[in-house]
Amino acid sequence: MRIAPLLAIGLAALGGFTGYSALRATPDAPAEVAGPHTMVEVILPATLSAKARLGQTAYEAKCAACHGPNGAGNLNAAPPLIHKIYEPGHHGDESFHRAAADGVQAHHWRFGNMPPVAGITRAEVASIIAFIREVQRANAIF
Ligand code: HEC
Repeated sequence: MRIAPLLAIGLAALGGFTGYSALRATPDAPAEVAGPHTMVEVILPATLSAKARLGQTAYEAKCAACHGPNGAGNLNAAPPLIHKIYEPGHHGDESFHRAAADGVQAHHWRFGNMPPVAGITRAEVASIIAFIREVQRANAIF
C-alpha cells in the first residue's frame, strides 16, 4: 500500500506543527517582541500622534486582553490586528466601529465570536483605530 508512508509523513508533519504551537503557547516561553502568546512580531513606530497615544491606552484597556499587546494577536483568544487582513482596504475604519459596538461573527479565524465591547464610545474606538493604523503602517501594512 502506498497510503501508509504518506499517512506517516502527514502525521509527522502534523506532530511537528502542533508541537510548534504548543511551544509558542507555553506561558513561560521566552518573550519575543511582545509576549509568549503573540502571533506576529510588531514593530512600534518611533512616535505616535496624540490621538494614537490615547488610542493605545484605550486599546490596552479594552482590546489587548484578546488581540494581544500592540495588536500582535493572542494564540488563546483573538487574531492580530497588525495583519494584512485588517489593512484599511480590506477592513475599513467602519468595520472597527461595528466590531466594537456589535461584536463580530467568527469568519476569518477559529477563535469564536467577538462579543460587543461594553461601555466603549465611538470616540474611543476612533482613537484605537488611529493607533492601529499607525502601527500597521510601521509594519508595512497599508
Ligand atoms: C473577548 C475577546 C475580544 C475582545 C475583548 C476584542 N476582540 Fe476583536 N475580535 C475577537 C475575535 C475572536 C475576532 C475574530 C473574528 C473572526 O473570526 O473573524 C475579532 C475580530 C475583530 C475585528 C475584525 C472585524 C471584522 O469585520 O472581521 C476587529 C476590527 C476587531 N476585532 C477590533 C477589536 C477592537 C478595536 C477591540 C477593542 C475595543 C476588540 N476587537 C476587542 C475577539 C475580541
